[in-house]
Amino acid sequence: MSRYFLPPVNRAMTTLDRSFFQKTVKITAAHVFDPKNVGRVQKECVEDIFKGSRSVKSVVSEVDSNGKRRMLVRLKPDVKHTDLSTVGESTRNLVKGQILELIPHDLHLKYENWGYNEIAEAILPEELVNDCPSSSTRVAHIVQLNLQNKFLPYKHMLGAIILDKNPEVRTVVNKIEAVGTWSEFRTFPMELLAGSPDTQVVVNEWNCEFHFDFAKVYWNSRLANEHQRIVRMFEPGEAVADVMAGVGPFAIPAAKNRVLVWANDFNPDAFESLQKNIMINKVHGVVQPFKLEASEFIRTSVRNLYRLSRSPSAIRNPIKVYSHQYSEGVQEILRRAGKTEEEINPPPVYLRIPPFFSHFVMNNPATAASSLEGFIGAYNGLENQFFDAENLPKREFPLVHLYIFQKAGPMQYTKRHICREISRGLGYKVRPEDLEHLELVKMVGPEKGYYCASFRLPAEVMFADVPPPREEKEDLNVRHWLKWSEYDDIPPQ
Ligand SMILES: C[S@@+](CC[C@H](N)C(=O)[O-])C[C@H]1O[C@@H](n2cnc3c(N)ncnc32)[C@H](O)[C@@H]1O
Repeated sequence: MSRYFLPPVNRAMTTLDRSFFQKTVKITAAHVFDPKNVGRVQKECVEDIFKGSRSVKSVVSEVDSNGKRRMLVRLKPDVKHTDLSTVGESTRNLVKGQILELIPHDLHLKYENWGYNEIAEAILPEELVNDCPSSSTRVAHIVQLNLQNKFLPYKHMLGAIILDKNPEVRTVVNKIEAVGTWSEFRTFPMELLAGSPDTQVVVNEWNCEFHFDFAKVYWNSRLANEHQRIVRMFEPGEAVADVMAGVGPFAIPAAKNRVLVWANDFNPDAFESLQKNIMINKVHGVVQPFKLEASEFIRTSVRNLYRLSRSPSAIRNPIKVYSHQYSEGVQEILRRAGKTEEEINPPPVYLRIPPFFSHFVMNNPATAASSLEGFIGAYNGLENQFFDAENLPKREFPLVHLYIFQKAGPMQYTKRHICREISRGLGYKVRPEDLEHLELVKMVGPEKGYYCASFRLPAEVMFADVPPPREEKEDLNVRHWLKWSEYDDIPPQ
């Protein structure tokens, strides 16, 4: 915005005084004699016309001193009504042709006419102006800021401006501490800066509805594409284990695609929302929710799924899955478009419970690698389900999608670091060439990447002896770890 139009500055303001922000700018307007010519003037004088915005229009109608209504086109601040040389040739011709005249015009601006940045920059100390906090996370009606300490004295004013300038926002919060590794539920403390203290939200992602309390569970709208990337790998009829499912952004879209999902999260609030979202999205029966610690979930669910798949009642009663139900209105449109009744209202399909999960999703980048221990011996005794009498593989081993933070660097180096962490978790050495794919999901700091490593479970881990109970397990991992001298040149990060 041109400096002529910037709001007045008050760097001593401590509570937001909206009435302070008023200003009258003296500019020139083109008075168009016949309102029918306004369009022509806008077209021909474009280089001289003030670039309007939603709140400050370039064309206005006003009542003159004789009480007559007239149409004005506001012109740029460097146009002088007394000096025709300050306008372009087209405007000059329209003046000569008596289509318009140049007149002085008072442009009155108030708080509502300026945006967040302009008001914030008018109240922040000069040294902070160039750094004005502008990045925020938006989840439904909530804006979450992550203010640096230097902005804390202004936090309530900044929150109030955000609220004023975004009609869809009802709540502005500030993250008080980083999520860090200590927050096992991946939540963070937040304080209310402005608006109502209501953190219950409804978010739509990939045609699924998610209801949750933003203050009590993990949610990141920036992961929407990543959720979809993984869900697209699943085939209808497969079984998938979502080990750290949160409120269900992998599980529920997958289930809508007829994938059977066992979804787990040990945060009681996430579990409760997951249950609710399963019902709301009508995928009950297709998604089974659990509230277990991740490695225990892995260990128990592998065997439970296998047992369930063989149980006579599951074999007799496959899971009935209804397809998407169109509303009456849409059904009518589809009928008129020549769709058959079967296309409009497809009959339910029946899913048989597969004996094994094809995929495990482990999206908790701070600690998921340590939960890999749940795979050690998880398939012990089930070898003949994977190998035939000649010891040839009968079916593919499950694919694990493990999320992990890692210092970003040359790919080979990053891969080795990630393999080191995976190997630590599995108690078995995984090499860079064992990774089927490594995706950099996003950067979470100048040098820190959020990765997803996809790899097949090694037979040596799946069919290993079942590890001893917890107290001795630490030793077991350490014993395995000490054998791998090859990664020792990589210092732990
Ligand atoms: C980063 S969030 C991801 C949630 C969800 N998958 C998503 O993409 O939005 C990690 C989730 O893992 C859960 N979690 C962390 N450690 C866990 C553990 N050891 N066992 C079970 N759940 C765990 C947290 O409660 C949290 O909901």
